[in-house]
Amino acid sequence: MTLRVSVIGTGYLGATHAACIASLGFQVIGVDVDPAKIELLAKGKVPFYEPDLEDLLASEISAGRLSFSTDFSAIKDADIHFICVGTPQQANSLAADMRFVNAALDAIAPLAKPGTLIVGKSTVPVGTAARLRERLLKVNPAVDLAWNPEFLREGFAVEDTLRPNRLVVGVTNDAAESKLKELYKSNLDAGTPWIRADLPTAELVKVAANSFLATKISFINAMAEICEAAGGDVTVLAKAIGYDPRIGNRFLQAGIGFGGGCLPKDIRAFMARAGELGAEQALEFLREIDSINLRARARVIELVRKDLSEDLRGKKIAVLGAAFKPDSDDVRDSPALDISAQIQAAGATVVVHDPKAIANAEKRFPALSFNQSIDATLDGADLVLHLTEWKIYREIDPSKVKGLVKNPTIIDGRNALDRDKWIAAGWKFRALGRADLN
Ligand code: UDX
Repeated sequence: MTLRVSVIGTGYLGATHAACIASLGFQVIGVDVDPAKIELLAKGKVPFYEPDLEDLLASEISAGRLSFSTDFSAIKDADIHFICVGTPQQANSLAADMRFVNAALDAIAPLAKPGTLIVGKSTVPVGTAARLRERLLKVNPAVDLAWNPEFLREGFAVEDTLRPNRLVVGVTNDAAESKLKELYKSNLDAGTPWIRADLPTAELVKVAANSFLATKISFINAMAEICEAAGGDVTVLAKAIGYDPRIGNRFLQAGIGFGGGCLPKDIRAFMARAGELGAEQALEFLREIDSINLRARARVIELVRKDLSEDLRGKKIAVLGAAFKPDSDDVRDSPALDISAQIQAAGATVVVHDPKAIANAEKRFPALSFNQSIDATLDGADLVLHLTEWKIYREIDPSKVKGLVKNPTIIDGRNALDRDKWIAAGWKFRALGRADLN
């Protein structure tokens, strides 16, 4: 008989995981405490923007393989239960807030059938899986717990879930591994690398991977600072070092740095956990990674101040991009919005455009102005900032929009625009980590 799967927590990770597992032919029930979210999902609607997910979700619902509920008892027939709830940063510390993970385990534990497996997917401080397993065995010793970290990127969530570049399972015995192999059989058949680990290693793989990615981005942003000081060009430098396959050219895009719901909070929670373990020195460097990242935002604001002769009052700044990265409507810890809010606080009028993230951005930053039209956003601007590298911004014809602005100066905070084209069209062009050409 095919496995039945429950997914607890239907946010970004859970909704995607539920739809993708259903598409492999399994019967899936998604459960969440948020009735509004469940109501939307049950209708085949995704409460956030993620390419391909809505089509997949709708087709799995109509095929009868996927359903949603707010009632936890709906999970009782499942053979595998995935915990996909969030672990946000705590309000008053660097550490992760574990309330949702703990609550999910406590809800599943008494309901799970004997012989079934609970699998954590949320990003958690190392040691959580062993602690939860102990807690579970006290309530329901016939059920086991494993950890299976998720590496999906927003904007590529379906692709990353269906065709992951590796599968990592943290287990304490062969039976748990076999059950997960049954679920992921199609990936195994396709040759996806399978890594069996103990529980702490599986948890660590996720935070180590995100720390490495954050380090790569901050490394190139540190090089951007040096290029600025020495008159070099970080985009050329990145390209040149990236040809060394040991370095690689991905994640070397210098600019205003990383944001989103994962990298910033994960490196902070990792530092906090290392401290608890008495190993804080090992991750001291992540503090520097975090500072370099936040400094990139400050450096753009310095460029703005310089361009406007230190007086932002009464100036109109047009901002292209609100999402923390393109192809996403997620504005959690968005560098673009952080910069926009700081510029506004310094006295400027800031108008922000984004093709997908305006609704979310407005909720978090009601004092900023937003506009759905690029032309109206640029209209009368004293300065233009390019802060999220959506494709539509690369398609802007600089000579066509020059007439809209009051002053044709653009700061490319993502090093993604064609500098020569903008300069040829008569714009003053500024960027992080690149000497001024005009
Ligand atoms: C990240 C990890 O990539 C993913 O594996 C994990 O599961 C969740 O966290 P995500 O948050 O979707 O995924 O975003 P990612 O594509 O990693 O980008 C993170 C941030 O880094 C974005 O703000 C992006 O703009 C920035 N970034 C990325 C750079 O500034 N430069 C780069 O070269 C790459």
